[in-house]
Amino acid sequence: MYKIITIDGPASVGKSTLAKKLAKKYKSPILFSGRLYRAVALELIKRKSDPNNIQNILRCVDCIDLNRLDSKELYSSEVDNLSSIISSKKKLRSKLIMFQKNFPKKYGRGSEFAIVEGRDIGTVIFPDADYKIFLWADPEIRARRRYEQIIKSGKIASFKRIFSEINARDRKDLTRKIAPLMPAANSVLLDTSYIDIEQAFNALKKIIFKN
Ligand code: DC
Repeated sequence: MYKIITIDGPASVGKSTLAKKLAKKYKSPILFSGRLYRAVALELIKRKSDPNNIQNILRCVDCIDLNRLDSKELYSSEVDNLSSIISSKKKLRSKLIMFQKNFPKKYGRGSEFAIVEGRDIGTVIFPDADYKIFLWADPEIRARRRYEQIIKSGKIASFKRIFSEINARDRKDLTRKIAPLMPAANSVLLDTSYIDIEQAFNALKKIIFKN
């Protein structure tokens, strides 16, 4: 029977990179829960729908195409911002709960783990998960990493803009009334500010396998 690993943390902390590394090593499925919120935001943008109208938002949930959750379109800065705004809506969060809860049952059979990453996975979606990880890194360091990643890919970026967007998303994620970003009870806090991705991965394996 698979074990559930939850990985929560702020924007650009390395959740998805670490989740992918775990998934690859242990041949286990991952759900990037942020992509559900991103897909709804993208649909709102495409339809030019008013994002303040909850009925518009809920209609977009029905259009989520699970086969297109790895689309690059989900990662524009417009989608970054709108997904963060709509994710504070209680009705949207409720509508996405069952999909997230059903993910391990549906995709975890035969695997060692089912990995789910996001903001409220250890607190709300799987409070009884086998392993709950809370990742953190200083916002300026996260912005620097994001900036270098974009420059490395040959694109132009502004560090100042990235830093201010990360701070704005942190503020929204940490202070919203419904399911704010916070460490779950019994979670393990891993601060990656001064370690690289391989060191963070080794630390994660130690947490999971306790050796
Ligand atoms: O992890 P991400 O950057 O892809 O998430 C996009 C947005 O979705 C993020 O700003 C907050 C929201 N989100 C959330 O509220 N709860 C989750 N479990 C995952 C993401």
